[in-house]
Amino acid sequence: MIRKKNICWLSMLLVFTLIAGMAFPAAGVSAAAGSKKQKVLVAYFSATGTTKGAAKKIKKASGGTLYRIKAAEPYTSADLGYDNDDCRANREQRDENARPEIKGKVKNIRKYDLIFVGYPIWWGKEPKIIRTFLESYNLEGKIIVPFCTSGGSGISGSIKGVKESAKGAKVVKGKDLTDLSYKSVEKWVQSK
Ligand SMILES: Cc1cc2nc3c(=O)[nH]c(=O)nc-3n(C[C@H](O)[C@H](O)[C@H](O)COP(=O)(O)O)c2cc1C
Repeated sequence: MIRKKNICWLSMLLVFTLIAGMAFPAAGVSAAAGSKKQKVLVAYFSATGTTKGAAKKIKKASGGTLYRIKAAEPYTSADLGYDNDDCRANREQRDENARPEIKGKVKNIRKYDLIFVGYPIWWGKEPKIIRTFLESYNLEGKIIVPFCTSGGSGISGSIKGVKESAKGAKVVKGKDLTDLSYKSVEKWVQSK
């Protein structure tokens, strides 16, 4: 009899665990991407707020820590006025060696396994401040997942630069998240 009762409890526990797993998938996602528990950092640069919105969706879906990459000298709208050849953003994008300074640091980056790195596409590529960010840390053994927002160019032109700067890390396939719903972002995050 007692054995029967135990089996009954175990079955209930199993059913409860399965239901909880289905109802709260995000909780497992600091396992984010994958089966093991992984510590997730969502680092992003956003000049006008669009990439920030995408980063917040990733944070919600992954349970990770959000980190905003802030330029030491903030970008003004004149700096971003790409119709002007000589605006700051254009000058930086033309200069292979430009590494705009960042204000602040990620606290204890060592504890993160999986790092989403987000940015707007500027002239087909990652803004140079992303290279500053990636080159500021020892990323040996980390998994880097690039994401971006853009006016339509997509992420592909930025991957080479990200790979060059994220030395020792594994850079996996990234995605342009412009206009993606939370559900779609969540699905993508859970596939990582
Ligand atoms: C200097 C500059 C260059 C840009 N170049 C491109 C580009 O080459 N291709 C593209 O699709 N969008 C381009 N954009 C548009 C941004 O990628 C897009 O608006 C992005 O969502 C902005 O993100 P944010 O609000 O997080 O800064 C550019 C924007 C700026 C300011």
